[in-house]
Amino acid sequence: MKKKCFILGIETSCDETSAAVVENGRKILSNVISSQVDLHKRYGGVVPEIASRKHVEIINAVIQDSLEQAGVTFRDIDVIGVTYGPGLVGALLVGVSAAKALAFALDKPLVGVHHIEGHIAANYLEHQDLQPPYICLVASGGHSHIVHIQDYNTFEILGQTRDDAAGEAFDKVARVIGLGYPGGPLIDKLAKQGNKDAVKFPKVSFDDGSLDFSFSGVKTAVLNYVNKLEQKGEAYNRADIAASFQNAVVEVLVDKTVVAAQKLGINIIALAGGVAANSALRQLLAERAKENGLKVYYPSPILCTDNAAMIACAAYYEFIAGKRADLDLNAVPNLRLGY
Ligand code: KG4
Ligand code: ZN
Repeated sequence: MKKKCFILGIETSCDETSAAVVENGRKILSNVISSQVDLHKRYGGVVPEIASRKHVEIINAVIQDSLEQAGVTFRDIDVIGVTYGPGLVGALLVGVSAAKALAFALDKPLVGVHHIEGHIAANYLEHQDLQPPYICLVASGGHSHIVHIQDYNTFEILGQTRDDAAGEAFDKVARVIGLGYPGGPLIDKLAKQGNKDAVKFPKVSFDDGSLDFSFSGVKTAVLNYVNKLEQKGEAYNRADIAASFQNAVVEVLVDKTVVAAQKLGINIIALAGGVAANSALRQLLAERAKENGLKVYYPSPILCTDNAAMIACAAYYEFIAGKRADLDLNAVPNLRLGY
């Protein structure tokens, strides 16, 4: 292989159209992200048909911009990496089709990337010293997983949510207390003015010592709390609710991740996914890690949410391990991670 390997990454699994050029898996040359959040806001969540249509409209321009910003042309690209699942099928298909068309036209290798594997890889882009094995907490709008990264391409799921994802719970609670969409960043901001001990919301753990999560109970508890007060015509403090809810979620995420690391005797923890941008989560994990002699890595907020640089990075490690996708690569909305 030539010394520099340029990967073009493409990500369209949900509501961000993104293309990026990454050098040798670790250096971002460009990372163009076109967010559709303003389009979906008025509906209070992502509308799949609207997402697919918008991806189709702008994917070519986003790819072109990613090349221009990186100062490269199609001819310089060595590998094309694309998210092929999990996600919204119509949205995924746009990226997969674009990647396949480019791989065919340019006669370049194609690599299919698991979206969560991409989130995990975001850490490699900012932490040049990070190497497997380590434990990663992946918390986003669609997933809450504790993953043991055994090596760059081997993933073992140690725990996952049995119902709502953490980000989904943030978004739903934000709606209940009248904040906008997406709710995570808004709750994070409002919680700073609230008292996290004001209301005791449930923190679900399982008797069998499982590392799985459950967030539907805390979401329902917030809903009931608010409904009860509204029925009585009593006012409630939104900042206190935001802070108390956030604390209930974050404590469980941190506790289980630390236990997972201790169980496996691993002293490195990474955070990934949209919820990894949460300031309370970062702070609590940093505190617990210090107490327990663990080292923590997290990506900056822009690399926590969906972006194609993380997909290009994951594609690089799949590529050097010999993985290739054929032109019959399809979108797999419920693609599983690991074994
Ligand atoms: O990773 P991501 O961009 O998309 C998925 O793959 O799902 O994550 C989006 C999720 C949303 O649920 C959003 O509310 C949440 O991440 N999120 C946050 C924060 N920023 C984004 N949740 C809590 N605190 C934040 N600061
Ligand atoms: Zn994501």
